Amino acid sequence: MSAFKAPIGTRDVLGEEGARFAAVVSRFGRTVGLFGYELVVSPMFEDVGVFRRGVGEESEVVTKEMYVFEDKGGRSLALRPEGTASVVRAYVQHRPPLPWRCWYLTPAFRYEHPQAGRYRQHHQLGAEALGSADPELDVEVIGLLATFYRALGLRRLELKLSSMGDGACMPAYRALLAGYLESRSAELCAEHRLRYSRNPLRVLDCKKPECRLVAEAAPRLADALCGPCRDHFGRVTSGLDALGIPWRHDHTLVRGLDYYTRTTFEFAATALDSAQNGLGGGGRYDGLAEALGGPPTPGIGFGTGVERILLACEAEELADLGTGVPQVFVVDLLGGRAATLLADELRRAGVSTTRAFDDRSLKAQLRQADRSGARLAVIVGPDEEATGTVTLRSLRRDSVAGPGEADAAEGPGAEQRRVGRQDLLAAVSGWLR
Ligand code: HAM
Repeated sequence: MSAFKAPIGTRDVLGEEGARFAAVVSRFGRTVGLFGYELVVSPMFEDVGVFRRGVGEESEVVTKEMYVFEDKGGRSLALRPEGTASVVRAYVQHRPPLPWRCWYLTPAFRYEHPQAGRYRQHHQLGAEALGSADPELDVEVIGLLATFYRALGLRRLELKLSSMGDGACMPAYRALLAGYLESRSAELCAEHRLRYSRNPLRVLDCKKPECRLVAEAAPRLADALCGPCRDHFGRVTSGLDALGIPWRHDHTLVRGLDYYTRTTFEFAATALDSAQNGLGGGGRYDGLAEALGGPPTPGIGFGTGVERILLACEAEELADLGTGVPQVFVVDLLGGRAATLLADELRRAGVSTTRAFDDRSLKAQLRQADRSGARLAVIVGPDEEATGTVTLRSLRRDSVAGPGEADAAEGPGAEQRRVGRQDLLAAVSGWLR
């Protein structure tokens, strides 16, 4: 009998990639902490209406990609294709004090054509901020995402920005666009030739070359914005300028979800293939809370895919994402309890530490220590026990040697030094500095 495999379009994350995944998530946690956002956790599945009404009956995510099922109680449910509609549903249900600024990590399920960077289950890190229509909040949210990418070391990014207008200017623009598309309908791709009138904006988002050609000459939303929307956009762009975040006005940026109003944005990773280079994106959704039965409440947020971030980091050759690799490996030749206590002491002092188990030989433990990526081994055996000392030993050729001992770390025999047991923390932190 053949063994089971993960379903098409899904992936197991483990080993090296698991460490990198964890590093990305932990970096995001630190960034949202800097901005004062709180964690929100909501269910993986919702009443299908949350997404139909929230994301939009006409959006591809809802019509083609959503995993819908009926449970044993006859309820129609959907696996989350994205995070925002659920978060806003949670807001409507619980009404936390406003402004409510929160973040999440969620799997998201979309029945897509699987390929590199496009999966049927992916993982999104996201942030949402509800309760303010202030453009400074847009600047903060975009700035948060830029800060996160910068902290990861990503450099090859392009921020595309647009405005979707609001209830005052959008309907007239839709009508204008529909008229234009009608005049060129014969040139559209097979799908949009028949469907452009139901949601003309979708055509602007179509990747087929024939639609792109028509889209390029289409009336521009930017020219149809009402005064307040234009002012809002101007405040957002000048705020980004003030923060030194480069951006480009993209007139064909139509995000695939229908709840957007005013500001929309997307970071593209230019190191990736253009079909999957959307690293993260979002925008305002000032009508979403109302659409889900709540009070009118403006909001803005973004989602960014962990798998795409990892691909972008790889493309930019950012191998070391900063965490997940222990700093110290404890080698214990006394049976294992000494390592338990030494590792505990080091971890309490904030030094990431790992160790061997199963009372293995010195050679085997050192081999494992080398593989772990740690820079320093702390060794304790009978000699050390008898003299109240521990041995510190450099593990990598590029490890930083103790003061005045740089040369010793270069040779094939690793640098090694005995220190008093009571001086362990000082010696380790001096070594790792
Ligand atoms: P989205 O652009 O559909 O927006 O997805 C956000 C990010 O998730 C994308 O930029 C991409 O990195 C990743 N992503 C999307 N689909 C896939 C896939 N099939 N495979 C791998 N990665 C994928 C949203 O979902 C909105 N909820 C963002 C938002 C939050 N807007 C306002 N607040």
